[in-house]
Amino acid sequence: MPGHLCIAEAAHFFYELCYTYCMRLNKYIASAGICSRRKADELIANGNVKINGTVIREMGAQVGEGDVVSVNGRILKHDTAKVYVAVNKPLGYITSMSDDKDRATVADLVADIPERLFPVGRLDYNTTGLLLMTNDGDLAHTLTHPGHEVNKTYIATVSGVVSNARLAKLRKGVDIGGFVTSPAQVRVLKQNPHSAVVEISIHEGKNRQVRRMFAAVGNKVQSLERVAIGDIRLGRLLQGHYRKLTRSEIDYLKSL
Ligand code: URA
Repeated sequence: MPGHLCIAEAAHFFYELCYTYCMRLNKYIASAGICSRRKADELIANGNVKINGTVIREMGAQVGEGDVVSVNGRILKHDTAKVYVAVNKPLGYITSMSDDKDRATVADLVADIPERLFPVGRLDYNTTGLLLMTNDGDLAHTLTHPGHEVNKTYIATVSGVVSNARLAKLRKGVDIGGFVTSPAQVRVLKQNPHSAVVEISIHEGKNRQVRRMFAAVGNKVQSLERVAIGDIRLGRLLQGHYRKLTRSEIDYLKSL
């Protein structure tokens, strides 16, 4: 430490030193990509986290340079590079990082990216389209947190006729079994004799929500593709491929 510092300067010096080299433990765990900051707080409170071999339950604990942090015995590799990608999920992939039945997972679609990326939310096995993946645990948490969910837009091909009465129900909110959905934005893009192509935007993320909403009004979903998450669009991204998000797309997601 430089000599001849007054108390205020010394305090400032230590603050700067800490600001440069220390990070709050929950933030450190989240930015290693294993979970959100809130989940990290739970892990800390439950005694699952060690710094340099000692269990730490103190919420405000700081991690300094060279400290070794482990969660449930696993040492965290602190990867500060944040990666954000848009993936076009094909049919037959599960939205998970691994599968005990050895089915294809979305992790396979980004296997050539060295950072460990996690899906933001999920798409059903039989749903295709836009899935965001990142190692930014905090952003993933914010985007999927109930009450803070961003609008997601789907193109659904459904059986039968989507009449004005059915559209009105979907726009008002339907009971999908113990839960009444919020008003959806819906429009019929094409009505065929025995099926219809419909664009639907919702902001909630209940399990199989779009399929259950159409079932509630009497149409069966035959295929479902997610084409947008907020302003992030699937565009011409080919199925099974990914692209890195642009700086402005990342800033947009962080602003939500
Ligand atoms: N709604 C569904 O029914 N399935 C999805 O995968 C996403 C939204």
